[in-house]
Amino acid sequence: MKQYENILFENNAGIGVITLNRPKALNALNYNMMKELDDLLDNIAQDDTVKVVIITGAGEKAFVAGADITEMQPLSALEGRKWGQFGQQVFAKIENLAQPVIAAVNGFALGGGCELAMACDLRIASDNAKFGQPEVTLGILPGFGGTQRLPRLVGKGRAKELIFTGDIIDAGEACRIGLVNKVTTAAELLDAAKALAAKIISRAETAVRLSKAAVNEGMDMDLDSGIAYEAEVFGLCFATKDQKEGMAAFVEKRKANFTGQ
Ligand code: CAA
Repeated sequence: MKQYENILFENNAGIGVITLNRPKALNALNYNMMKELDDLLDNIAQDDTVKVVIITGAGEKAFVAGADITEMQPLSALEGRKWGQFGQQVFAKIENLAQPVIAAVNGFALGGGCELAMACDLRIASDNAKFGQPEVTLGILPGFGGTQRLPRLVGKGRAKELIFTGDIIDAGEACRIGLVNKVTTAAELLDAAKALAAKIISRAETAVRLSKAAVNEGMDMDLDSGIAYEAEVFGLCFATKDQKEGMAAFVEKRKANFTGQ
């Protein structure tokens, strides 16, 4: 795969690790990095050898400390809207990627960093990670999906408290309110994310991908429509070899050997 200036990418045994790599600026998201991430996501979407994606930050201090403030400082209203729309579009690509995406949050996840983590399907945090939407301390508001994804994850009341105050919370509190799935030590973080990725890879691939789509689509629908969508993708699973294999393995009391077909 292509080399990038601000991003590292490695695919080992189906686990594609994206490392946002501007550690001197605490991996702040500037335009070039976002362009590269956008391009990489397009490539990953076309690459069936990548089964699960992990996103993490370079260095020991930060996952992503937000969108790049120095770049945003001179923007006009129209440029600000364009930047927000671009960030929203890139993060929507993560959310809608067929492959599951895990955020391995290894430090500050602030502003656009918290929003990036929320666009992922699952979040594992190191015990030194810190989360927050401090945009109101800069005279702006969360603009890469934070006003929408945070309440969906933690509820309206908690989301408004975090957004209105700009307070920073630690990994334990983030786990307690449902913003992250699990907390590990910093040393164990990447291994924990890879172990979770490997477990997902061991399951029936189409069933995992369609269940991601069902949850995502359903969250934007009324219950009856979501339930109807679920029936469609549930039915579709019966067209796969993995459904035949999974059920045969159960009946024959052996481990299933899934092929992703
Ligand atoms: N943009 C640009 N540069 C950033 C940055 C950001 N979001 N966050 C950190 N940096 C840079 C710092 O300017 C500093 O650069 P220099 O060494 O050249 O001075 C370097 O990274 C290291 O940062 P600090 O010296 O500040 O490190 P610290 O340990 O003292 O503090 C921190 C760490 C609390 C995370 C602090 O850097 C900070 O508050 N960063 C900004 C956090 C923030 O407000 N994020 C939201 C951005 S707005 C946004 O994301 C909008 C949106 O919704 C899309």
